[in-house]
Amino acid sequence: MGRRIPQDKKFLQNIEIIDIAEEGKGVGRHDELVLFIEKAIPGDVVEVELQRKKKNFAEGRVTSIVKESPYRIEPFCPHFGVCGGCKWQHMSYEAQLKFKQQYVDNVLSRIGKVDTSSMEDILGSEQTTYYRNKLEFTFSNKRWLTSQDEVVTPETLNALGFHVPGRFDKILDIKHCYLQQDPSNDLRNSIKEFAVANGISFYDLRQHEGALRNLIIRTSSTGEIMVIVVFAYPEEGQIEQLMDFVAQKFPAITSLLYIVNQKRNDTIFDQEIYVYKGRDYIFEEMEGLKFKVGPKSFYQTNSKQAYELYKIAREFADLKGDELVYDLYTGAGTIANFVAKYAKEVVGVEYVPSAIEDAKINSEINGITNTKFYAGDMKDVLTAEFVAEHGKPDVVITDPPRAGMHADVVKRILEMEAPKVVYVSCNAATQARDLEMLSAKYEVARIKPVDMFPQTQHVENVVLLKLKK
Ligand SMILES: C[S@@+](CC[C@H](N)C(=O)[O-])C[C@H]1O[C@@H](n2cnc3c(N)ncnc32)[C@H](O)[C@@H]1O
Repeated sequence: MGRRIPQDKKFLQNIEIIDIAEEGKGVGRHDELVLFIEKAIPGDVVEVELQRKKKNFAEGRVTSIVKESPYRIEPFCPHFGVCGGCKWQHMSYEAQLKFKQQYVDNVLSRIGKVDTSSMEDILGSEQTTYYRNKLEFTFSNKRWLTSQDEVVTPETLNALGFHVPGRFDKILDIKHCYLQQDPSNDLRNSIKEFAVANGISFYDLRQHEGALRNLIIRTSSTGEIMVIVVFAYPEEGQIEQLMDFVAQKFPAITSLLYIVNQKRNDTIFDQEIYVYKGRDYIFEEMEGLKFKVGPKSFYQTNSKQAYELYKIAREFADLKGDELVYDLYTGAGTIANFVAKYAKEVVGVEYVPSAIEDAKINSEINGITNTKFYAGDMKDVLTAEFVAEHGKPDVVITDPPRAGMHADVVKRILEMEAPKVVYVSCNAATQARDLEMLSAKYEVARIKPVDMFPQTQHVENVVLLKLKK
């Protein structure tokens, strides 16, 4: 990308960081050039080495900090800076919330032309570490080496951890991750140690060979634990050898599963799952409701904050008990089941068929009888005929993926003319784009960002839309 930067224009001094960009980079200016600088935060004054340059903007890295931002703190994780997981750990949590709020405000007003003057304060997460219920680690025989690394041997080149940003084939070996509660760290470290000690090989991401490929750990608010070990090309007896070790060392595991994935990609959605011990699902619990979570099911990764998010969505919907609610992008029907007892009927639509099966089971195990679920691509399922068959909704709750809603879905929402739309989004930029389209018939009544992912730049945002009179 971009043009070669002449040596005398490569280094810039005294750049003041004035904002933070979507991907979490610090924003500065130099003459007409907008600068995006990795690991810089507003309030910093830094010296910069430019790495890429386009006509109006450039990307660079900090070579030294001239003046530290008051928002700067010491990152608590020794992997910070190399691991791509928690990019904002060098900022106080208060500052993280301030910039997330500011970001949502900016994109909604700039892209969505929304009046944000009555936007509510972001809801911070009570837990700012160990808040995730799911982590996926990758095995690799080519560990990412840092400058502090000692002499390496083939054994010490093995890694179990996370991808280094921008490198599909390099894995940072993780010793302790602050994102998931115990026994996550113990599990990962013990499995690695056992595999190395017993000569079970780690995957080669370029050559596509080796026994061990991925490790997925799910913990839950009920205390249940799911462990999925993904093998690629194990030698005879290695699956039993490793799985026996895990089962014996961690008897608390509720669901011990394995997969043999010999495809080029890591996704497990098309893979057969084998149960080694226990059952093939765990339970999550929210407000007395139980949710079955299978190895392929989507469940919000910060369970505690998901509860807060859903309460806000429910409060915005302000249900009286006689409404027909559409829950679009319902996943495993979590929001649908969460609001069901406050509505007459809830109709959920979702792309993934197995998630829809889970959604139905989740209604059943909770004795909920006023929900209906349909699987398929939203733009194909939510047709005029579908609306004629199920009735025009009084409230639409929509929680699309990062790409936002397909234009046909937005058009259908405009046609349905539900008095209220509650739009939950994990990407305020695409939400803003959709809000602009919805402004043909809707006005924004409430906006509340929610922080589901402390230490990262990600932010969730809930918007209440009311049909214009
Ligand atoms: C952000 S998740 C929301 C899930 C759910 N509301 C929850 O809170 O657990 C978005 C969901 O949209 C689904 N999805 C993505 N693209 C879709 C499409 N084109 N049609 C229907 N569903 C889709 C995904 O499978 C995922 O379950």
